[in-house]
Amino acid sequence: MMRVSFIGSGNVATQLALAFYAMDSINIVQIISRTQNNARKLGKQVHASYTNQIQDLNPETDLILVAVNDDALFKVAKSLPILDAGQIICHCAGSVQSTIFKDKSHNFGCFYPLQTISKSRDIEWDQVPVLITSNNPFVDKTLVRLAQCLSNHVQSVNDEQRMALHVAAVFSCNFSNAMYQIGARICEDNQVPFTYLHPLIKETAQKILNLHPREAQTGPAIRNDTWIINKHTKWLKDQTHRDIYYTLSAFIQNQ
Ligand SMILES: NC(=O)c1ccc[n+]([C@@H]2O[C@H](COP(=O)([O-])OP(=O)(O)OC[C@H]3O[C@@H](n4cnc5c(N)ncnc54)[C@H](OP(=O)(O)O)[C@@H]3O)[C@@H](O)[C@H]2O)c1
Repeated sequence: MMRVSFIGSGNVATQLALAFYAMDSINIVQIISRTQNNARKLGKQVHASYTNQIQDLNPETDLILVAVNDDALFKVAKSLPILDAGQIICHCAGSVQSTIFKDKSHNFGCFYPLQTISKSRDIEWDQVPVLITSNNPFVDKTLVRLAQCLSNHVQSVNDEQRMALHVAAVFSCNFSNAMYQIGARICEDNQVPFTYLHPLIKETAQKILNLHPREAQTGPAIRNDTWIINKHTKWLKDQTHRDIYYTLSAFIQNQ
């Protein structure tokens, strides 16, 4: 039975803790979070003890998963006690080096689920790539085995490869979502339903599962319809929307 504790009780900690809680081979020992109420809420959900004091970390833990916002990671690393020789600590961040815990443990790494994760949405864990970084074979074996309990797509990577995937994910997910935000705003401003775009958005995402994104591109820019591009940019009232339209059109045309 692997004994796992979490630092953090946000989106990732909650979804991972709930998934591990459902497994017979894992015992969730403790939830530590900045806000006592949030630690208590998740602790009760997974029948674990809870605290808002990192110094009170339960030593009867094999693995500590630190799932706090990236800016807080260094502060958490600083306040951690020195861990026992057999204990493993890892974070869940795409672009933070795995060595941040090196002064507190001999066994450290990263357990990075490559998915957009919210507390309020169920995760199909078996489909989620989980990327493992570790400082020694013991950590690698333990984290890979743990990840394989969740996912059919587990891969060991180094810090550089993980960050490359994170940056690609920011473009593919966060920036695409920002484009939906602009689309929704334009629809609202012109009293037309954004829901009319839902089938288009679905098809755009599904198409690149079989085609390279370069081959999947359509629209005025790839067709070099300069007259339409100019018409659209003149029509747009928001200067930021206009700048994004121009920059992305130029990018598409230069591919
Ligand atoms: N969400 C995603 O899509 C996603 C995907 C892959 C990886 N990640 C990575 O997973 C990590 C967590 O992301 P998230 O989305 O779960 O963040 P989140 O929902 O914003 O949650 C952050 C958590 O950090 C806790 N926290 C902040 N400062 C703390 C401190 N000093 N001590 C203890 N706890 C502290 C907060 O505690 P309180 O709530 O108690 O205040 C909160 O529970 C990040 O490294 C992120 O890069 C996120």
